[in-house]
Amino acid sequence: MNTSNVSQKGSVTWQSPSNIAIVKYWGKHGRQLPRNASISFTLSEAHTNTSVSFESKEDKGIDIDFLFEGVRNEAFQKKIEKFLTAILDEMPWLEDYKLSISSSNSFPHSSGIASSASAMSALVMCLCDIEKIIGFTTTSSLLERASYFSRLGSGSASRSVFSTAAMWGHHPDIANSSDLFAIGLQDIHPIFQDFHDDIMIISSDEKSVSSTAGHKLMEGNPYATARYQQANDRLVQLKEILSIGDVSAFGKILEDEAMSLHALMMCSDPSYVLIKPNTLVAIDAIRSFREEQNIPVYFTLDAGPNIHLMYPDDVASEVAAWRDMVLRPLCVDGRIILDKVGNGPIKLK
Ligand code: PMV
Repeated sequence: MNTSNVSQKGSVTWQSPSNIAIVKYWGKHGRQLPRNASISFTLSEAHTNTSVSFESKEDKGIDIDFLFEGVRNEAFQKKIEKFLTAILDEMPWLEDYKLSISSSNSFPHSSGIASSASAMSALVMCLCDIEKIIGFTTTSSLLERASYFSRLGSGSASRSVFSTAAMWGHHPDIANSSDLFAIGLQDIHPIFQDFHDDIMIISSDEKSVSSTAGHKLMEGNPYATARYQQANDRLVQLKEILSIGDVSAFGKILEDEAMSLHALMMCSDPSYVLIKPNTLVAIDAIRSFREEQNIPVYFTLDAGPNIHLMYPDDVASEVAAWRDMVLRPLCVDGRIILDKVGNGPIKLK
């Protein structure tokens, strides 16, 4: 690589958000490829800030140091080294630079919020930016490349690099869809563009079964084939719903997907349960409030017990009063993260 006339040293900082899947990705194969296509909303408040300083060096090999929230973290450092080694074929310049990485989350580390999507996408945005600065690539499709590498770190991270809503996974009916990277969804009705997602922390304990193990168990799940078909069918319906702004049809798919995801866990071999008693209490309360008050408020779950309470902005004040009275007491230390649909990664310096 001829880098004589480009920066050999510098620093970049990116902020990248988490996302919440509406149609869920659950089951993978090969090199981090999804068994079905998925769609998510990009969030704004739950995000990771990552800075990477780079300096060229003579000797070859991955050489990083990593600080999380200002403190050295060996476990995270090992994960990042493993990830960088896995992408070395496609980013060979990584061997020629010393990288000093520091990262922090907008939400507490042990809050029960999965940070892999925001953490991976923030790191990858920095790497894709650096490779342009040092002249390794001149690609114009920064987000596609960032989505590709984010996916290799954590599947769902592939969707975090796009504003508002993203889809990941090849679907025969959707042009340009791919298993290799996510695409931004353009035709989103304004009602969804500032949709709320209140993340209720029902438990912040470490999960008994990790997502990695959960994806693997789908390989032996007797309902797997039907599930992948169901997800792909729902995805087509959802795409239309997002463009016409049909909130109640959206809410139905949102809740059905959460229930399908957790039903798959309960009928894996071995079976397991990630929801907690208060998850069910909250689900009951949300459904009763919606029916009795005729207010469009819905829930989803990721691979854990925490409820994502989702609703349009125009009912926010009615929802807030009820949420704080009925749902907050179900949360650990009354903790709820108030999030909204957001605009994707931003460069901070
Ligand atoms: O990206 P992973 O391996 O953490 O899996 C994410 C799985 C779900 O959050 C349950 C669904 C999804 O599509 O994000």
